[in-house]
Amino acid sequence: MGENIMPIFRVLWSDSSIRNLVPMFKNRSWKKRGPLPPGPYCLPVFGYLPFLGKIPSITIANLAKRYGSVISLRLGQTRVVFVNDFESTKEAGKMDVLQGRHQMALFEPRGYAGLGLLEGKDWKEMRRFTLRCLRDMGFGKRSMEGMMQEQVQEICSFLRKNLGKPLYLKPILELAVVNSTWTLMTSEKFDIEDPAKRDLMQILSDAVSDQNIVGVGAFLPWLAKLAPDLTGYTTGLKLLAAPEQLARDVISSHVATHSQGQERDFIDMALTKIYTTTDPKSVFYGDFGLRNLHYTLLDLFFASSDTISSTLGWAFTYLACYPKVQAKIQMEIDQCVGRSRMPCIEDRSRMPYVEATMQEVLRKSSMVPLGLMHTALEDTHFKGYFIPKRTVFIFNLYQIHHEKKYWGDPDNFRPERFLCEDGTFRRDDHVIPFLVGKRSCPGESLAMNEFFLFLTGILQNFNFELQPGQSPPYLGPRSGFVLSPPKHELLVSER
Ligand code: HEM
Repeated sequence: MGENIMPIFRVLWSDSSIRNLVPMFKNRSWKKRGPLPPGPYCLPVFGYLPFLGKIPSITIANLAKRYGSVISLRLGQTRVVFVNDFESTKEAGKMDVLQGRHQMALFEPRGYAGLGLLEGKDWKEMRRFTLRCLRDMGFGKRSMEGMMQEQVQEICSFLRKNLGKPLYLKPILELAVVNSTWTLMTSEKFDIEDPAKRDLMQILSDAVSDQNIVGVGAFLPWLAKLAPDLTGYTTGLKLLAAPEQLARDVISSHVATHSQGQERDFIDMALTKIYTTTDPKSVFYGDFGLRNLHYTLLDLFFASSDTISSTLGWAFTYLACYPKVQAKIQMEIDQCVGRSRMPCIEDRSRMPYVEATMQEVLRKSSMVPLGLMHTALEDTHFKGYFIPKRTVFIFNLYQIHHEKKYWGDPDNFRPERFLCEDGTFRRDDHVIPFLVGKRSCPGESLAMNEFFLFLTGILQNFNFELQPGQSPPYLGPRSGFVLSPPKHELLVSER
């Protein structure tokens, strides 16, 4: 009997979230340091996990009505603070101590390397480097813009071949979007018609889209390891394997052809940095440097592929449901750009209705409803509450984007809310799809420019509508990490 229990005990003990409970129970130091944020009673072992319901962002928003906008509960053995209002989210974004990442068991094999998972000074060094590279490589530069316009043209020729056929746009958009980011990072191209690449995109989309971030994998890692097939842990590892190999191959070919001073892309820039780093404490030093390059490349790939294509997918779905908004955008395109040339980034500031619609799509879809989890790197205080080290922070972006007190009619799709009376664009800081603060999305400007070029470049040429007789898609809240647009096929016609 004892022998049977030992392996289970070993798995449990290997989980740091369980080990961390021991000192907490021993001295209960948090009791002396002030109250934790309020929240509901939780079950032993599972905590509040069984009660999160189908759509955690909504369940948590309902709890916030009872306990206040900053609430705490346990998911598995982990203390989690949910932040449900804009002001507190902004305040948390400024605190260095809250910029850690929840270190999920699924990412143990990668050694928690790469921009998305690094913490503290390692993360700062990697983030500074990545932002500089992305900027130097052409955010807003003509070369980048040209590359995206080429992709828009490819999509347009694909749509022209498929006029009148019902189409689910997301996978088509995904390949084109990834192509521009992938080329920026690797100088390689994805072929939009290549079925193998399309399969890879499907894997990527399955690994990111609609996954539940507040589930067993994140908060009951010991259970995930004990029953890997049942809990989806095995599938998660399998899904991560294909892109890992892709990143390994592309880095190997760069190592073979790298020439210092003649960097072609992000990988070359990182290799130069790795080869010239002599400080063993640096995030770019030696093997650790190569591992960080590998996983940062994957983070950029994952983070950009699904998000931008989903945003565009949501946009075309909304426009099919709201033809008057679609017509107004097309009128603005005709006035500002005409039909004889493609829209360019410079046009963006002269197109307030398009800008307002982009903001409304991001607000209403709240495509990353719970952002990415942060953790407290040390014991700290937040809004007068004590926050023990390694408390997870989750920001309920869906709730912030749907707060009735603020938006009035949050459930309506109404771009006009972002326009002044004279028709000029009115920015609203409460729209935070990229989160706010020190760890907010580094791809924001790339994403917004790409969103603009694809949206206007496609609408310049095509109309999107629902199929006759088909009921409109469900556009309300759903569960998931990155929410794909509804799987609704749209009809495309030429203008
Ligand atoms: C509409 C498109 C996008 C949305 C809505 C979005 C949203 C987000 C959000 C909510 C986070 C979490 C921020 C936090 O932890 O506080 C994030 C992180 C991140 N995003 Fe994006 N993103 C988008 C596009 C992109 C693109 C195009 C790239 C790459 C060029 C990118 C790269 C990343 C990376 C690397 C992180 C992790 C940053 C870190 O840990 O320091 N994202 N994004």
